[in-house]
Amino acid sequence: MSTLFVTGTDTGVGKTRVACALLHRARQRGFKAAGFKPVASGAEGTPEGLRNDDALALLAASGGGLAYDAVNPYCFAPPIAPHLAARAAGVRIDTRRLDAAQEHLAADHDLVIVEGAGGWLVPLDESETFGDWVGRRAWPVVLVVGLRLGCISHALLSVEAIARRTRLAGWIANRLPPAQERGDEVVRDLRRRIAAPFWGIVEAGADELCADGEAFEKWLEDAQLNET
Ligand SMILES: Nc1ncnc2c1ncn2[C@@H]1O[C@H](COP(=O)(O)OP(=O)(O)O)[C@@H](O)[C@H]1O
Ligand SMILES: [Mg+2]
Repeated sequence: MSTLFVTGTDTGVGKTRVACALLHRARQRGFKAAGFKPVASGAEGTPEGLRNDDALALLAASGGGLAYDAVNPYCFAPPIAPHLAARAAGVRIDTRRLDAAQEHLAADHDLVIVEGAGGWLVPLDESETFGDWVGRRAWPVVLVVGLRLGCISHALLSVEAIARRTRLAGWIANRLPPAQERGDEVVRDLRRRIAAPFWGIVEAGADELCADGEAFEKWLEDAQLNET
């Protein structure tokens, strides 16, 4: 069993799209893979309770059979920072509950792909960030770089902050529309500046990693071998 945490240079940079692409690829290769959205803010009320789009996408990409609450233990209606949404709801995000939900999925899957909220240092409460929690769990991280103006600094800041807490397993460039000017040059530049392996590009309009997606599969196979 392996767990991979998907973070991004910002909110809206393609974490959900990439997490779903990785789930599809892992499942195509015969791995039993599940998505996990520990904390979501921004949700619709339904007769079954609050439902967040990211969690629904991860649930669909996990192949069915999972309950919504198993994939998304904390869900808040307002589309604001999670710790503020929790505070407004009079709830404290308890990382032990997050751990228990992850362990429940991990017990039954080869791979759990965890999608954070926003970027790496989004707060969970007054003192802790998502990154602190992921660091305590020592999960490997993949960084999604949404290609747009400003992404080079955001990517390098994220790489440094991830390395302080855990290990960056790889990074993925996501060609967000509208296409960034000189986007290929930005990717080449980041490949030189980021020591961790480049796992490939998601092209605009695509929902799969392009050819160099083999880097993820190699990571997955190595991770599974190291487990046994
Ligand atoms: N490669 C892409 N091509 C086209 N649209 C994209 C691409 N990546 C992301 N998007 C769109 O941008 C928005 C944000 O992507 P999403 O995966 O939800 O980001 P995050 O999970 O980081 O908030 C979504 O509407 C998504 O469909
Ligand atoms: Mg998302």
